[in-house]
Amino acid sequence: MDMDRVLIFDTTLRDGEQSPGATLNSEEKFAIAKQLARLGVDIIEAGFPASSPGDLQAVRRIALEVEGPTICGLARCVRRDIEAAAEAIKDAPKGRIHTFISTSDIHLEHQLRMTREEVIQRTREMVELARSFCDDVEFSPMDAGRSDPQFLYAVLATAIAAGATTLNIPDTVGYTMPTEFGAMIEGIRQHVPGIEGAIISVHCHNDLGLAVANSLAGVNAGARQVECTINGLGERAGNAALEEIVMGIYTRRNYFNLTTNIRTEELYPTSRMVATYTGLAVQANKAIVGANAFAHESGIHQDGVLKYSQTYEIMDAKTIGLQESTLVLGKLSGRHAFRDKLEQMGYHLDDEQLNRAFARFKQLADLKKLVTERDIEALISDEVYQPQEVFSLEHVQVTCGDHALPTATVALKAPGGETIVDASHGTGPVDAVYKAINRIIQVPNELIEFSVNAVTEGIDAVGEVTIRIEAMLDAENGLPMNPQTGQKTRIFSGHGADTDIIVASARAYMSALNKLLSILDPSVVKERIVAK
Ligand code: KIV
Ligand code: ZN
Repeated sequence: MDMDRVLIFDTTLRDGEQSPGATLNSEEKFAIAKQLARLGVDIIEAGFPASSPGDLQAVRRIALEVEGPTICGLARCVRRDIEAAAEAIKDAPKGRIHTFISTSDIHLEHQLRMTREEVIQRTREMVELARSFCDDVEFSPMDAGRSDPQFLYAVLATAIAAGATTLNIPDTVGYTMPTEFGAMIEGIRQHVPGIEGAIISVHCHNDLGLAVANSLAGVNAGARQVECTINGLGERAGNAALEEIVMGIYTRRNYFNLTTNIRTEELYPTSRMVATYTGLAVQANKAIVGANAFAHESGIHQDGVLKYSQTYEIMDAKTIGLQESTLVLGKLSGRHAFRDKLEQMGYHLDDEQLNRAFARFKQLADLKKLVTERDIEALISDEVYQPQEVFSLEHVQVTCGDHALPTATVALKAPGGETIVDASHGTGPVDAVYKAINRIIQVPNELIEFSVNAVTEGIDAVGEVTIRIEAMLDAENGLPMNPQTGQKTRIFSGHGADTDIIVASARAYMSALNKLLSILDPSVVKERIVAK
């Protein structure tokens, strides 16, 4: 192990997917895993295979087809979970099983209902079982941040003796302060027999906004793996944000004297992809990848930056893959130039995706004089990061105004190829469009979030719409319950972009509905939706 390098363990597809409403389908997970490999993460925690057959299959596909990183599956210290994780990662050139059990008294008493001795015995047996399948085994004492240090040391020593190669220390509820967390890692290094032969990892949650600070305190104290997620997604307030950890280590290399394997120019495109697929937008003032992270508003700051960028900038935006928002291509630009620009911006499309994106670019270039990189990003999110279409939007038309009843007509192409047209009125143009679509695709759902953003300044700006819908799931309407949580409702996000925000809104709704439809049995779609 190179002690000058910090391993980046990405858990966007596992802990990140536990963010409320961030469900990803298997295609989206696969696309994100490929992008994480391009980003250069060392380990991808691809899912929790025992949680559902779908998750097992998604981890399997990533293990088989994504080259580069170690592919990891999560498992409780339970035989069935470990067997599922082993099955899911068995074809990976580099596979890992990550198993965990709680160690805090509060979890032992109220959740596990186990004694400390039972936890030690279970740890030994399950780590040994995991090692019988795989040489690379990670063990986590859940809620370590609130555990009795002496008991924690004993459990970690047991895991090492049973064959664990990485010991991950989670602050599961985001409770610790950076100095405490650093001291905890230091204590582990001093008191756990055999720890010198293992990698210490940290996994911090952000309930008090300290996930990144705690993780970096852990690194300072000797941890050499950080578990983190793109955009800081994760359970409740999320996990440590990968981009912040990486740029902290990179920008303050004179302080840490450490490196990571991350290709930093891929950070921004990865953030965009994850935000689009999960429907969880990045807040404007978010460090590193937020829209304002490199914007200077005050006159004094602008003056300083113009004279010498480092007066108010500690990082160069290009380092994270952010290009300047200037005119890049016009309506005479060819396919070649368009592809080169996309590559430069960190988007790697296959031929089919490129063709679709190029057609949309040409339409946009006809409408807008200046096509900026921000416009191109919006267009890629709208055209490429979309689910497989079950129904597609052919046409949308609205009438509205202060003395008119908002009315919409929509035409959708059904799975069989026929065009279905319907119309509705509503409280506003978007409501009318959504109601007209609902008259064709009759799956009960509720719009729970709607946001619209102008991508650039100016009256001709592209509008990006992000929505979330909550679908009611039951046998009667043919919708399966969420296999992971058993919940009767499930949230789907959708994203659309267009210079016309009504069209962008219609596209966003179709994107969310297509995700919903894709989890239904095709016969349900055919009988209950198409053949009404
Ligand atoms: O937060 C946590 O404790 C976890 C474990 C499964 C590592 O996510
Ligand atoms: Zn976690």
